[in-house]
Amino acid sequence: MRVIINSNYDECSSWAANYVAYKINRFRPTADKPFVLGLPTGSSPIGMYQNLIKLNQAGKVSFENVVTFNMDEYIGLPPAHHESYHFFMHETFFKHINIKPSNINMLNGMTTDYEKECRDYEAKIKSYGKIHLFIGGVGTDGHIAFNEPGSSLSSRTRVKTLTMETIRSNARFFNNDINLVPKTALTVGVGTITDAEEVMIIASGANKAEALKHGIEGSISHMWPISILQMHQHGIIVCDEAATKELRPETVKYFKEIEQRTMK
Ligand code: GLP
Repeated sequence: MRVIINSNYDECSSWAANYVAYKINRFRPTADKPFVLGLPTGSSPIGMYQNLIKLNQAGKVSFENVVTFNMDEYIGLPPAHHESYHFFMHETFFKHINIKPSNINMLNGMTTDYEKECRDYEAKIKSYGKIHLFIGGVGTDGHIAFNEPGSSLSSRTRVKTLTMETIRSNARFFNNDINLVPKTALTVGVGTITDAEEVMIIASGANKAEALKHGIEGSISHMWPISILQMHQHGIIVCDEAATKELRPETVKYFKEIEQRTMK
């Protein structure tokens, strides 16, 4: 696992965006051989999206031959709802870049057949071979996508009931009213994420420190889904100093030194 420790959120965002652009450019995607990117919502990736928009508009990276799969979507929120992940992705990222609408994949939280929706999503990912880079955030309780604590570490795309912790935490987007937060969501599974060639998690702020402690220093456990990154051959955590405050000082020093030497 690589742990990239930056001073603050802005540095995390620019590191993550430059890395995504580098991976896409190095892959040299074509229409027949697209780069497949897994994408998150939440506040963690917003700065990365803003940086990627700038890189795209400056001609430094193109999304023409990039296919995206988003991680999750609330059940029951139509795409026009301002807190739906469809709306978020369109407004925050997709409408500003040169991606083809037909290359954007998102789970449909308005479907009447959840099982089919989830099965078809998995099949569509497989039709591309694999996701090359899956980007995610992490919940304060260690969840990735909407895989709440206790989720099977080999789970696939399915319906999940949200925990009170997540509902409370996401209420900030719903006028701080927990009654307005959907109680269920469609989400890719932990196994769907870790099947990707590379997984990059962005974590910023002191409220993510406990999740990082369990993810980096703890045992692998379904109670902290982020800890599955320890089993991945190419896992990266991009974080800021605040998010490392629960890690042992030696752990922080160790990962910083490794990155300094890699840079040399
Ligand atoms: C939601 C999303 C997750 C996200 C998490 C953290 O629960 N389903 O994908 O990682 O929130 O959000 P934030 O980045 O706003 O802290």
